[in-house]
Amino acid sequence: MSAVPLLKVSDVSKFYGSRIGCRNVSFELYPGEVLAIVGESGSGKTTLLSCLSTRLMPTSGIVEYHMRDGQYRDLARMSEAERRFLMRTDWGFVHQNPADGLRMTVSAGANVGERLMAVGDRHYGNIRAAAGDWLRRVEIEEDRIDDQPRAFSGGMRQRLQIARNLVTSPRLVFMDEPTGGLDVSVQARLLDLVRGLVHDLGLAAVIVTHDLAVARLLSHRMMVMKDGAVIEQGLTDRVLDDPREPYTQLLVSSILQV
Ligand SMILES: Nc1ncnc2c1ncn2[C@@H]1O[C@H](COP(=O)(O)OP(=O)(O)OP(=O)(O)O)[C@@H](O)[C@H]1O
Ligand SMILES: [Mg+2]
Repeated sequence: MSAVPLLKVSDVSKFYGSRIGCRNVSFELYPGEVLAIVGESGSGKTTLLSCLSTRLMPTSGIVEYHMRDGQYRDLARMSEAERRFLMRTDWGFVHQNPADGLRMTVSAGANVGERLMAVGDRHYGNIRAAAGDWLRRVEIEEDRIDDQPRAFSGGMRQRLQIARNLVTSPRLVFMDEPTGGLDVSVQARLLDLVRGLVHDLGLAAVIVTHDLAVARLLSHRMMVMKDGAVIEQGLTDRVLDDPREPYTQLLVSSILQV
């Protein structure tokens, strides 16, 4: 891991009117590091992820990103065009519902190829070859390249969404409950795939999940949220094996007893 953080998050809060979304969250994320955000429903996980990924503007606090040119940029001070460019190139965002992250009425190949075109690739043959290669990497038969995601199963759609996000070699990927809508056997396989890709590509990732098994499998570090605040954070194995906060202990034990 590099010595310089990719993301620096300082005292981020988001209020929806008088309701707290998340409050006073600070952390740093390093290149190649996978951070899991866990906590019960309504604890602020999606709100925080949205603030990090510029989908929401924090009410207060600063999120800085280490650009490829070596500069830190305050995301709130970027132009809309700059933010969109980051989203299309350096970042990926994997939605819980694949339909939110795919174009359902264009082919699988176009879903992947479109991102390459967005970073300036114009050669049809290269784009199609890269798309086919990525379909293979996410275990979709290459002869499905001209099918629309509408004709795919839920697990295939999620794998296609992952291919679409990773084809541009992003440095940072945000995932909100990436296995949430899938049945258990499909989840396990997808998690294996995500773990392999994140490792092989040296990706940094922020993964929101309510499932501690997902955090255990994918993340190096985790943050536990409650009522909008981070109440415990640390290395994933430490937090899960030796939780310090009573709330985390409850979370860990209640999951283990299921
Ligand atoms: N658009 C919104 N307007 C008003 N309040 C909101 C909005 N989005 C979220 N909230 C509130 O912010 C708090 C945190 O919600 P958030 O969606 O971040 O939780 P979460 O941890 O992602 O929950 P879940 O596991 O159910 O997805 C909740 O009290 C929620 O009601
Ligand atoms: Mg959520």
